[in-house]
Amino acid sequence: MFPMDDPTRKSTSKPMLRRFIHHDKPIKYLEFLGSGAEGVVYRVEIERNVYAIKILVQKLGLFGGDHLPERSRHYTCPIAHEARAFARLDSVRKNGTWAVKCHGWMKLSTRQQQRPKAVLSFSRWAIVKDYLPNPVTLEDIPEIRRKMAIPRKALMYPIDTQPRNYRGSFLVDLGSVRTYPYPVWYRNEVRAFWSWFDKYVQEWEVSIRDGSVVEGWLNERFRAAIENRKIVGKVQEARKMELPIIGTQETV
Ligand SMILES: Nc1ncnc2c1ncn2[C@@H]1O[C@H](COP(=O)(O)OP(=O)(O)O)[C@@H](O)[C@H]1O
Ligand SMILES: [Mg+2]
Repeated sequence: MFPMDDPTRKSTSKPMLRRFIHHDKPIKYLEFLGSGAEGVVYRVEIERNVYAIKILVQKLGLFGGDHLPERSRHYTCPIAHEARAFARLDSVRKNGTWAVKCHGWMKLSTRQQQRPKAVLSFSRWAIVKDYLPNPVTLEDIPEIRRKMAIPRKALMYPIDTQPRNYRGSFLVDLGSVRTYPYPVWYRNEVRAFWSWFDKYVQEWEVSIRDGSVVEGWLNERFRAAIENRKIVGKVQEARKMELPIIGTQETV
C-alpha cells in the first residue's frame, strides 16, 4: 500500500503555510548567514525575537519543470518548494522536528527592505525560520537518518540534503523538497513518480538500518564537509598570522 492510500491520513489538499505573525514589524538585520542559488539568509531580530529570514531570489528559476504547463510550473520553484513543505510539516504536526521550525511567509515592505545593499536585487518574498546556531557534526548523523522517516510519512521528497543545508540535525533549506502531489515530470504518471519516490526514500531508510552504500555515501559527504571546514579554518588562521600555508590547498 502506498502511504497516500492510507485512509487515516490527514487531508493534504488544503492547508497552506501561515503568514508570519510579525510580518508588518520592523526588521533588524544582524548577520549575513549565507546564500545559495535560491536566496539570501540573514539572522534578524523582529519584536525582540531572533529569527533566520530567507529572502528569495527575484527570478525564481525552474528546476527541471520547463516543459510543464505554465500553471504547474509555479510549483517547481524554490519558494513553492519551501512553502509547501513547511505547510505540510505543520499540518502533520511536525513543524520543527525533521526541519527547522518555520514561522511562516511574509512579503517585505519597502521599509523592511532597508537591508544590506547587496541584497536589494532579491525579491520581497521571504520565509521566517528559527535561527539555529550550530553547524552539523558527525554526531548528528544518526538523528538525521532517523528523522528521514518524517518526510517519507508526510509524502515529501528531499532532494538536496547536503550538509551545508543542515544546522545540527535539522534541515534548514527546503528549497528543493518536493511535496506530494507534485507536477510530474514524465508522461502518464502520478503513480510512477510516486513509486520511484517511494523506492528511493525506502532504500534510504533501509540503508539507515542496515548500513549500505548509501549510508557510506551520506557519511562521506558529511565527513568531507566537516574536514573542509577545518581546512578553511586553518588557512584563515595561517593568513591572520601571516604564516606560509603548507599542505593545504588555497582553493578550498
Ligand atoms: N535557520 C537557519 N539558522 C542558521 N543558519 C541558517 C539557517 N538557514 C540557513 N542558514 C545558513 O544559510 C545558508 C543558506 O541558506 P539556504 O536556505 O541553504 O539557502 P539556498 O537555498 O540559497 O542554498 C545555509 O547553508 C546555512 O549555512
Ligand atoms: Mg542551501
